Amino acid sequence: MNPEDVRIRYNVSVADKRGGDYEHKRWFSSAVARAGFFMTKITIERHAALSGKHIEHYLELGPGPGTWTKLFLERDKASAYDLVDISSEMLGLAQENLSAYSGNVHFFEKNFLEFNEAGPYNFFFSSRALEYFPDKEVLVKKIAALLVSGGEGFVITKTPKYAINKLIGRKTSDFHSGQVDPKALTGLFEAHGCTVVGVYPVTFNFPLFRAAPLNRALFAIFSCLPLNPISQFFSESYAIKFIKR
Ligand SMILES: C[S@@+](CC[C@H](N)C(=O)[O-])C[C@H]1O[C@@H](n2cnc3c(N)ncnc32)[C@H](O)[C@@H]1O
Repeated sequence: MNPEDVRIRYNVSVADKRGGDYEHKRWFSSAVARAGFFMTKITIERHAALSGKHIEHYLELGPGPGTWTKLFLERDKASAYDLVDISSEMLGLAQENLSAYSGNVHFFEKNFLEFNEAGPYNFFFSSRALEYFPDKEVLVKKIAALLVSGGEGFVITKTPKYAINKLIGRKTSDFHSGQVDPKALTGLFEAHGCTVVGVYPVTFNFPLFRAAPLNRALFAIFSCLPLNPISQFFSESYAIKFIKR
């Protein structure tokens, strides 16, 4: 999707449709949303939050309101955090949400592909933003170029649902059509100077039912294991953990 359309879409949806209360409506307004929050938080804490390790220089693409940034800031207040988002409305929410940590956090209103201000970084994080980039190879190259050798990255992105959608006759909207297969994304990181050390399921959606207990049950069964064909089938999003060589 064209970055200008993404910027306008998020600026409008954050300011108008969601009444400025994006984070609450996205992650806490229903049992299914709260289950999604729980599964994402546990996965980040389990696989990405670098317990006890000092990050130094953290880079996040598409923080939105900073929902997950807080998890890292809570663990490591001494590092410098650079957050890049194309939407001024989203960045405004992040600034409000993270005001308690303002000394360490820097906000950049930019298309990530044009972000050249700072770096290099020791840690890269992004949740649910990759799918907006039409050319994943250009994006992966950019991420790898911004990391120091030995730097780590953790990326969460939506699982493509082409097979299920076809089966139940659901059309994927243009806005969400850029989802990438875990194997293809792993291949891109490997091809551009990174070693993938883990691929994990993150959120689960039991097909056809909007039922938080079923989603949580799938998470309880599969979340400790690497992504496999069964968990991929039920997953709504997955994560890739990598190290820059
Ligand atoms: C679905 S939201 C995810 C927010 C948050 N990370 C989360 O997981 O709840 C996607 C975010 O990515 C940002 N984004 C999309 N394309 C971008 C680009 N080209 N450069 C920078 N940010 C971008 C959007 O503005 C939005 O804030």
